[in-house]
Amino acid sequence: MAENKVMIPINLTISNMYVFTWGNYLYNVYISVVEGNPVSWRGVLSLGFYEEPNVGYKVYRLHFNENLFLPRQYYEKLLGVDLDPELIRYYTEPLNSTFNDALAKYLNVDANNVFAVAGGDEGLRLLIQFALHGFRRILIVEPTYSMPRVLAESMNLAADQALLREGTYELNLEELVRLGGSHDIIYLCNPNNPTGSLFSRGDIEYLVSHVNSLVVIDEAYAEFARFSVIDLTRDYENIAVIRTFSKAWGLAGLRVGYVAASDSVINGLKRLSLPHNIPYISMVLVLRALELRDYVERGIDDMVSVRGIMTKSLSDLGLNPIPSVTNFITFHVGSQSKANDVHEELFRRGFVVRNLSGKVLCEDCLRVTVPPMNVAEMFISNLENIVKHRGL
Ligand SMILES: Cc1ncc(COP(=O)(O)O)c(C=O)c1O
Repeated sequence: MAENKVMIPINLTISNMYVFTWGNYLYNVYISVVEGNPVSWRGVLSLGFYEEPNVGYKVYRLHFNENLFLPRQYYEKLLGVDLDPELIRYYTEPLNSTFNDALAKYLNVDANNVFAVAGGDEGLRLLIQFALHGFRRILIVEPTYSMPRVLAESMNLAADQALLREGTYELNLEELVRLGGSHDIIYLCNPNNPTGSLFSRGDIEYLVSHVNSLVVIDEAYAEFARFSVIDLTRDYENIAVIRTFSKAWGLAGLRVGYVAASDSVINGLKRLSLPHNIPYISMVLVLRALELRDYVERGIDDMVSVRGIMTKSLSDLGLNPIPSVTNFITFHVGSQSKANDVHEELFRRGFVVRNLSGKVLCEDCLRVTVPPMNVAEMFISNLENIVKHRGL
């Protein structure tokens, strides 16, 4: 195809994705300017990808913040659930009403104030879609999860950033309130990924009560912190809280999450969502998981104690961990090039961690999921070896 005129014909890997992106962009410009033949839909080919390395399952996967503390017995009990095979024949219930009722009961909210989604990311995509009907601008509190920006760009929305305070990673509330007026959505992840830190209820309530924007609080890691602001959705129309079964509940492969929000936000979601967005089997397994929450509670307790030990070890190695209330720890390696080096060397040794060198205010950071103690010990001893060997 003509694309090869500007694309360098190499194997496509994560690190050369941008070549692909720019190649397509230049090709679109070439087509519309030189050939005078604009093809509007090809604009999508200039978008970036959500970057994920495909590392398989035979390495220590410490890059996705999956819950590594739930025992096999939990999963066996889940799969032992009574499934009606015939029900796969049919479409699921309109608006997942029985499932939403069960979630509402678990959360102690009204059934009109919860909306099940196919993972937190789907919740995020639907909420960001609200901005298509407003100023077409969203404000992202950075450094944070990359997905809101990727989604906004995929919808051709403006994604502006408001930075946390350097060093402390605290909110700059005055700036958020000032910028809020011109943005449909403010995205705030709490506890924040990748810093692992928690913003206070007072700060969030202040923000929600001083802006008209819809404040989207991403609580993907809330269970680990045993903290939530879902109760604020009773008092404010302009807050939406996203939760997921992918993290503390250890069910990332089922793709289930939910949004808790005011009646108006939930009504908006009903208008934007695809019908039958969650597979029957996923819903049945999640309902069973709600009955097995003791496993999840114990998993969190175990993780918290390993997190404490790992944080201390990282500190002892001079790697400056940011205190975390989640199931991951982000630590400073000293410089972007050292972070790249350590990331690569850990990978060579079978430990996949997240390299944050592309993230504002975290340029010299790596992020590691807290694993069970035996893996944590191996990880720390390898890291110690790398640090000493490289004189970091
Ligand atoms: C902050 C944050 N929100 C949402 C998600 C996506 O979760 P889900 O698997 O529910 O789509 C992640 C996953 O890493 C995350 O870190």
